[in-house]
Amino acid sequence: MDAEVKKLLLDTKKFVDKKIKLKGWIRNNRSQKEFGFIDLNDGTAFESIQIVYEDKALENFKEVAKFNVGSAISVEGKLVLTPNMKQPFEVKAETILLKGGSLEDYPIQPKRHSREFLRENAHFRSRTNLFNAVFRVRSVVSFAIHRFFQERNFIYLHAPLITANDAEGAGELFQVSTLDSEKPEKDFFNDFFGKKTNLTVTGQLQAEAFALAFSKVYTFGPTFRAEKSNTPRHASEFWMIEPEVAFFDLKDNMELAEEMIKFIIDDLFKNCQSELEFFNKFVEKGLIEKLKNVQTKTFIRITYKKALEILKKHNEKFTIKAAEGNDLATEHEKFLTKHFGGPVFVTDWPKDLKAFYMRLNDDDETVAAMDLLVPLAGELIGGSQREERLDYLEKRMEEMNISDKDLWWYKDLRKYGGNKHSGFGLGLERMIMYVTGVDNIRDVIPFPRTPKHCEF
Ligand code: 4AD
Ligand code: MG
Repeated sequence: MDAEVKKLLLDTKKFVDKKIKLKGWIRNNRSQKEFGFIDLNDGTAFESIQIVYEDKALENFKEVAKFNVGSAISVEGKLVLTPNMKQPFEVKAETILLKGGSLEDYPIQPKRHSREFLRENAHFRSRTNLFNAVFRVRSVVSFAIHRFFQERNFIYLHAPLITANDAEGAGELFQVSTLDSEKPEKDFFNDFFGKKTNLTVTGQLQAEAFALAFSKVYTFGPTFRAEKSNTPRHASEFWMIEPEVAFFDLKDNMELAEEMIKFIIDDLFKNCQSELEFFNKFVEKGLIEKLKNVQTKTFIRITYKKALEILKKHNEKFTIKAAEGNDLATEHEKFLTKHFGGPVFVTDWPKDLKAFYMRLNDDDETVAAMDLLVPLAGELIGGSQREERLDYLEKRMEEMNISDKDLWWYKDLRKYGGNKHSGFGLGLERMIMYVTGVDNIRDVIPFPRTPKHCEF
């Protein structure tokens, strides 16, 4: 019977005492004179399977005993239960064939490697327990997010990756051009699109257009930011999920975000138990309890003003002093999540700290914005109610020097059936950091892109 490790684990009974066939890579090979053990991993599950091989059963025992770690093999043998051992079963090999040898200098030997070393070997690191677990969680979380929105009648929108807008107005753009970089043309009229274009920093503006047709939509795709910040939480290419909902205000928006986070965690407990236990033991002690807590508690909601009151009382603790009108620093975010013991929505931010499209509050000073802060990952979500009043929007764009040349269509949305609407962006990598305890964004994205780094 052709098998894979995941199937063996899920449906062990079906395979007991049957002859099965497995293919995978050797994690470890310990041989003695007359028998040996191979830890085989095929990546379908977190667990490796122990293969027992004996001189008397294998013609090629001597060769198998020398198969290097990292080799690809196929195994035929019988699945037997091992009730007294750590693993529930093992495979007694009848044949073991080499499908692809591995050299002795294979970098991923069965021992502890530093994260930095593994980053330099990103093409192999998924063959370790840690990265096997991280990237399966990434896959499971992605699917759960789709399910969350699909079950609630959201339409999945593929927002364009090349655009002429700087939708966040932060100027952190990767230019897209086919002009010869040696001889750059002065005007973009001669460039491929006949105008200046860049990789998108957000799919939000297009999502707004779709929300005003489908009521409820979400994007799920890569976004690009040429931020020069070399931090454990910033990548130049990252994936964002951006729901956008017509007739939603900021309060509805936060409720949706909270429900989504809880749904994802719920799903992880159902589908990634082994992975969570591994992270809990080796990456972040107390992770499981932290996540269980998130599931049961209502997230805290405080205004920016209130957050500052709290922070200012503890200013002696901070290197960067909290001050009215300033953005929150990482240490402030950390303090707040610790203070409240979990996720915190900070709402109603000073307008000058936020993007042009956010709805101005009646105080004329703050906007209907929310950031969700969590321990470890910091700002997990950024969102807002959008400015649906054309005159307010135009005024804000003018104040912030945002040209309406390429945003005529965005303004149109306010003229034809425009209404109250809201949305947010969840950074997928930050979510993975939060649920795995892995504290560097470079270790939750398969092949990370960060300033001065574009290997693989
Ligand atoms: O707060 P941001 O910039 O919000 C937006 O882009 C809005 N258009 C979202 C919306 O309302 N539809 O980014 C949203 C989230 C952040 O909270 C963070 O989780 C993540 O995206 N993020 C990054 N993740 C990794 N690396 C970076 N450089 C990131 N910048 C933002
Ligand atoms: Mg933000």
